[in-house]
Amino acid sequence: MVDFHSHILPSIDDGSKNIEESMALLKLLVEQEVKTVVASSHFYADFESPESFLERRNKAYNELSLCLSSDFPNILLGAEVRFYSGISRMKELSSLCVEGTKLLLLEMPFSRWTEYTVNELVELSCSNEIKIVLAHIERYLHMQEFGLLERLREQGILVQVNASFFESMLSRRKAFKMLKNGYIDFIGSDCHNIKHRPPTINVSREAIAKKFGVDFLNDFIEYSNNLLAKYRV
Ligand SMILES: [Fe+2]
Repeated sequence: MVDFHSHILPSIDDGSKNIEESMALLKLLVEQEVKTVVASSHFYADFESPESFLERRNKAYNELSLCLSSDFPNILLGAEVRFYSGISRMKELSSLCVEGTKLLLLEMPFSRWTEYTVNELVELSCSNEIKIVLAHIERYLHMQEFGLLERLREQGILVQVNASFFESMLSRRKAFKMLKNGYIDFIGSDCHNIKHRPPTINVSREAIAKKFGVDFLNDFIEYSNNLLAKYRV
């Protein structure tokens, strides 16, 4: 299974503090049958240039990779890029896509999105160089106008939800409905640390298998894998 959203790289953002914690997170992902994990460290254009971010990210990965063996999940370097007004004009945006693909994990404002914001998303969705994946969309949907998700899907915008969406009774119902209706493309752990925000991909796997059966779960896993392949560059 793919974990499309994680903060496993050491000492780069508010995720893993050091190599030991990164290794512990990766071991949990192995136990949860994650074969590929996207290392989506936070990127904030207000604070840093893409060049500087990529240099820091690659350094963190290189240090971690010295400790990795083939038992660990395949790590794809990426970023969780915070949306800002004008992002569609950012020249280096494609350098922040998930390694080897045109998939860009975008973190949206925690508020009702303005028409200007939505229009900019639509504009981004027309790019040939990137394919947008909205990060943990379950956090924002209740604040948006009715029908927005359908509108964004029509533009080909992809959706990631966190594994925790499948945890509580209340949110699980919404998660199942979205999954069944084909509104979820990727699940991510969004793991940050061992103590407070460990990976819980297993919770989502088990919930999906229990609700819809193992074949459905496997089909979803295959679908996500195929998307990674489909948008390879
Ligand atoms: Fe995140």
